[in-house]
Amino acid sequence: MKAQITLLPGDGIGPEVIAEARKLLDAVANRYGHEFILDEALIGGIAIDASGDPLPPDTIAKCERADAVLLGAVGGPKWSDPNAPVRPEQGLLKLRATLGVYANLRPVKPHPVAAKHAPLKPELLEGVDLLFVRELTGGAYFGEKGREQDGQVAFDVARYSVAEVERVTRRAAWLARARRKKITQVDKANVLETSRLWRSVVTRVLSEDFPDIAFEHVLVDAMTMHLLHRPADFDVILTENLFGDILTDEASVLAGSMGLLPSASIGDGKAGLYEPIHGSAPDIAGRGIANPYATLLSVALLLRHSLGLESEAASVENAVCAALDAGVLPRDLVRDGAVSTVEAGDWVARRVRETA
Ligand code: IPM
Ligand code: MN
Repeated sequence: MKAQITLLPGDGIGPEVIAEARKLLDAVANRYGHEFILDEALIGGIAIDASGDPLPPDTIAKCERADAVLLGAVGGPKWSDPNAPVRPEQGLLKLRATLGVYANLRPVKPHPVAAKHAPLKPELLEGVDLLFVRELTGGAYFGEKGREQDGQVAFDVARYSVAEVERVTRRAAWLARARRKKITQVDKANVLETSRLWRSVVTRVLSEDFPDIAFEHVLVDAMTMHLLHRPADFDVILTENLFGDILTDEASVLAGSMGLLPSASIGDGKAGLYEPIHGSAPDIAGRGIANPYATLLSVALLLRHSLGLESEAASVENAVCAALDAGVLPRDLVRDGAVSTVEAGDWVARRVRETA
């Protein structure tokens, strides 16, 4: 097939991990006879430096005409002055909204090697296979925000419509159907009105249209504990934007390192947005030691969800798994004998090329 993919390296370690993704996409194209047309655009701090705008019009145009977008990371100390007029993160939020990618999928399935690094007892991690579905274009992230009373008061409005909750619930239900058919919806319905709306919409949609899916509602404060006490009990975890942001960082601890977790953001429109869940890691940027696996696994999600290339996606996932099995481990996973970003990326690309 022929597909157009826009790469957004962004800030910090972003360019280093995206360079490995580029290699991997070339390897997949080669091995399976596809043509991937790759172009690159600016986002985040580097875009602010170039033009004052964290999401320049040229970037929007390139993303809108792409079949999929792959992002490295945005942000860094250079642009994080709380009084700065624009921030790198605004570019990412605007891109999510522009592409209409309301469902953010974050799978968490600890690999045995990585599980060694998790602070939890190994037996707690057995059988853990989670899929977070985080609503991505609503809630406090996108509600009205501002200051009043001479800056002495600040507010961020959390707002959700029935339609917004319905569409992400349906996504989660379709995904649950291909898994263990269980959804845990997380909210704070004992306090928040938006959570009560979520609860009633999720209950209606699932009981009317997805009778085969089992579901439960759990309060977010309790969920933070359950994720550490009994993570293997959950399958699909569906939640709103801010809770999903927080819970997925917590869940990344189960996988041993943030450097291993990919994400896919999809909507009803054309281009999906794919990114590792880690940040720009300015402290290690430019040293060639970043773990590229989360980005390579994001490429697998891109191949699966935006291009419909299931065997190609599986071959990438198998290659990363084989790298971990073979002890090809970046610095976040091992002290002695760590491989560089480039070595890890080369290993995976070679594996994909050589897979019969
Ligand atoms: C994430 C990040 C972003 C978010 C930031 C960079 C805006 O933390 O993708 O989880 O909060 O959504
Ligand atoms: Mn986050």
